[in-house]
Amino acid sequence: MQVQEMPEIRVQRVGQSRINEVDWDNLIFGRHYSDHMFVADYRDGQWTDLRIVPYEKISVYPALIAFHYGQEIFEGLKAYRTVDGKVAIFRPDKNIKRMNNSARRMAMPEFPFDWFMEAMKKLVSIDKDWVPAGDDVALYIRPFMIATDEYVGVRPSDTYKLFIITSPVGPYYAKPLNVKVERKYVRAFPGGTGYAKAAGNYGGAMMPTALAKEEGFDQLLWTDGIHHEYIEESGTMNVFFIINGTVVTPPLTGTILPGVTRDSIITLCKDMGIPVEERQITVRELFEAYEKGILEDAFGSGTAVTIHHIVSITDILPNGERRTIELPSPEKREVSNKLKEVLEGIKRRKYPDRHGWLVYVD
Ligand SMILES: Cc1ncc(COP(=O)(O)O)c(C=O)c1O
Repeated sequence: MQVQEMPEIRVQRVGQSRINEVDWDNLIFGRHYSDHMFVADYRDGQWTDLRIVPYEKISVYPALIAFHYGQEIFEGLKAYRTVDGKVAIFRPDKNIKRMNNSARRMAMPEFPFDWFMEAMKKLVSIDKDWVPAGDDVALYIRPFMIATDEYVGVRPSDTYKLFIITSPVGPYYAKPLNVKVERKYVRAFPGGTGYAKAAGNYGGAMMPTALAKEEGFDQLLWTDGIHHEYIEESGTMNVFFIINGTVVTPPLTGTILPGVTRDSIITLCKDMGIPVEERQITVRELFEAYEKGILEDAFGSGTAVTIHHIVSITDILPNGERRTIELPSPEKREVSNKLKEVLEGIKRRKYPDRHGWLVYVD
């Protein structure tokens, strides 16, 4: 337990802003980084030297534990420009808690909740001119922590650095997704790190995803590691299906990331009187529902993608036989389009924030 008083966050501002380098009418995801970043160091069992400094190169030794043994975790959340011109971060409490859960799983130190909130708000406030206004745009916030001991040997590091960088972004995917059911490779296994936002989870997913892309798909629909039959999630999204009027999504059993967007969608369904279930879904159930004509929708959810429609799901059987579910065109998906409108509307204050999800930055 951290009993330390929060140290003051030192601020060193840039001499010259880079804001004019950004093409604000064509924001590409992950291309530009705002002027400042937050950094804190962990040593001797405590966090010190909290600072906001110009976004710049960092200098580290090649023997860094993060490079060799993957002790690296991160988060992803967004700040929005509300319709009345304010800046608000969407549900940062959830991301702070998830980052600290990831830290525990990876034997890394937690960063105190209040310090995290304060650091994020201060950073976004300093770079608030980088928060774009509009329906598909936001300021993406990327906290991450790396193990910084200079030591080649497998053990948890004694020193760490926490960074928060931010980036003005547009949409993550340009078009609706064609996904392939993955039945050979797995993203996560019971008892593993699937629920943590640990960098290694993403590295391990790259080759199977690249293979699917070579076959013409946009993303994978991961299945469980034991039966290759229970649906888990997809790329950087949780997944939802609408079967016979009920919104269903796989439960949080430790192998999928507990998405903030997922949680928000479940809450909105309850608010809007839409039946919603968190339960296991098999590939077989999906195909049976499709054949019966009751599979109405499939979509992914995530901070980067918001709600993103899936237009086809292909399953390639071990004998090479292919079967494909074709879903209705996205503009016909009334329920998910409404959920998206409300969720995105709350973030920008077009709709009331009944659950207190917005944290304003002054
Ligand atoms: C593997 C994975 N699943 C799901 C999600 C969606 O989570 P969230 O809604 O918190 O962005 C993400 C994105 O962070 C992800 O990386």
